[in-house]
Amino acid sequence: MDINQVKKEFTELLRSTGRDGVEDVLEGLEEMGFFTAPASANHHLNIEGGLLIHSVNTCKAALMVWEGMKALEPGLEKEVQRDSVIIASLLHDVCKSDIYIRSVKKRKNVLGQWEDCEGYKVSYKNFPMGHGEKSVILLLCNGLEMTDDEMLAIRWHMGAWGINMNSFEDQRSFDTAQKLYPLVSIVQVGDKLAASIMERSGEEMDEL
Ligand SMILES: [Fe+2]
Ligand SMILES: [Fe+2]
Repeated sequence: MDINQVKKEFTELLRSTGRDGVEDVLEGLEEMGFFTAPASANHHLNIEGGLLIHSVNTCKAALMVWEGMKALEPGLEKEVQRDSVIIASLLHDVCKSDIYIRSVKKRKNVLGQWEDCEGYKVSYKNFPMGHGEKSVILLLCNGLEMTDDEMLAIRWHMGAWGINMNSFEDQRSFDTAQKLYPLVSIVQVGDKLAASIMERSGEEMDEL
């Protein structure tokens, strides 16, 4: 995949919103390493530029979900703006920009012998703020104007996986955000569809 082409797609989508702060965010993302970071250390898109690819995939999937749901639920047209789908889906995982560090790992080859392989390890030391909440704060600190539904869609994009089940407040806040703002579900589903359908690798399928 041509990473420069994906970066161009990402930049054009983000600029298409005409939102205040987009240029500052693009600069901030460059500095944080967003465009070269992988999407994970060991799972989907654990390659340079993986986070960028995952973000664009999530945006494409979220836009499809939004279009499809508008056909079923015409009222959605007024409730969720296209720009909001783009902002929240493209930027939901910016929290991952600075957590992956290149490292050499051991793995078994087809003959069962251990060998070195290039990989990533994870460190949260730059800004241990959590996941969705970290993305929201980084974007605000970089000067992006965001609506409540965009912030909440990013904050809760992990759905039930991102909730502290010991916290009644977390559970109620997630539930409330989801009911008040359809964008929360659209981004959550887009993220899920990108990771589990668009980004499956042959290697991952072999390990099942
Ligand atoms: Fe995420
Ligand atoms: Fe994601």
